Amino acid sequence: MKVKNITAKIQVYTIEECDSLKKKLIEAAKEATTRAYAPYSKFHVGAALLLENGEIVTGSNQENAAYPTTLCAERTAIFYANSQYPDLAVKSIAIAAFADGDFTEESCAPCGSCRQVISEVENRFGKPVSVIMYGKKHIYEVSSIQDLLPLSFGKENLPEN
Ligand code: THU
Repeated sequence: MKVKNITAKIQVYTIEECDSLKKKLIEAAKEATTRAYAPYSKFHVGAALLLENGEIVTGSNQENAAYPTTLCAERTAIFYANSQYPDLAVKSIAIAAFADGDFTEESCAPCGSCRQVISEVENRFGKPVSVIMYGKKHIYEVSSIQDLLPLSFGKENLPEN
């Protein structure tokens, strides 16, 4: 038997270390938390996408009394961007979360379903999507979703694709 080790490269930095574009994207994600509809969890998530034409598109989590029908901020933003601009690749996604009167100390990481959707976006446009996970204590960034979703399932796993 062989053992395969998988490593992920995660950059760790603070807001002070960001260039102006990254600051702008993170600010857009933070601002998007104010538009979350989260009466059940009271966990307000915002996502901001940087498209390849420089445009920033945001989304927030949209909850439902039938809990499983809730949609995360990341997927709200991605599905909106892909339906409005089907030919524009996504370069980056920044994520922030606000709960109990403040932004979270820890970085807000995307859930498994959102990782799968971001992976599809990478495959669709053939370009990596960097994921910026904001936290007051530190910001985590990966240069591709593959760092957060190793051995991902994609079209290559389907027959005749
Ligand atoms: N949520 C997101 O919007 N994004 C994530 O990546 C994690 C979870 C939302 C879903 C739900 O409305 C609330 O946060 C609590 O799980």
